[in-house]
Amino acid sequence: MHDQYLQAMGITRWVRRESDPVVVNDIVEQVAPQVEENNEVELTVIQTPDSHMVDDLDWHGLQQQVSSCIACDLHATRSQVVFGAGSQQADWMIIGEAPGAEEEQQGLPFMGQSGQLLTGMIEAMGLKREQVYITNILKCRPPENRDPSKDEIMACHAFLRRQIELLQPKIILVFGRVAAQNLLDTDKLMKDLHGKVFKYKDTDIPVVTTYHPAYLLRAPSEKRKAWNDLQVAMRIVAGETS
Ligand code: URA
Repeated sequence: MHDQYLQAMGITRWVRRESDPVVVNDIVEQVAPQVEENNEVELTVIQTPDSHMVDDLDWHGLQQQVSSCIACDLHATRSQVVFGAGSQQADWMIIGEAPGAEEEQQGLPFMGQSGQLLTGMIEAMGLKREQVYITNILKCRPPENRDPSKDEIMACHAFLRRQIELLQPKIILVFGRVAAQNLLDTDKLMKDLHGKVFKYKDTDIPVVTTYHPAYLLRAPSEKRKAWNDLQVAMRIVAGETS
């Protein structure tokens, strides 16, 4: 039925087949040294956001908090944060790793080549991008597109958790190893995680992980596995499995 979209994923023939992950310490205080003109070092206390600090925030308040966040070093190199995009009433929440250069420039997640493939995958499921909510585990771009550090992910986690609480999605679809391992608080590899159904820590929200579109662009033969994973998620949302 969605052949043209499946083609967008680069798949030509189809056979139908079938955490607080990391609770940031109650209030983690980092001491950021700032060098004054006279070379004396002034110590500024930065509070890493934790769930208590964002608990009461609505979408707007949360976005403002993210925009002014200085909880990790990425604030110094970012040109803008990438908070998330899509419907705040969405059943589907899509979580990737971190913004790249194009995403940072536009302030929107998944804009580049992997974004195009992600759009194809969303459409293959019979959805439009505007119908889902897309964000990343990190709201700021790591320089040189390096992997996010554990500290950066911890510093950002309360924001993601609040986004999940506000959205209350029917499903969370996680793209890529880094996002999957951190969201599920595991060091298992994608081969052991993809296509299985987990629950987001302390909730009943199902989590399905699949391969990152950037990986699928490098390894197109894996797209078939990704499509199977998406079908697992579709069945959950359709109420066919839990
Ligand atoms: N890769 C991601 O994981 N997220 C983006 O927003 C863009 C590329």
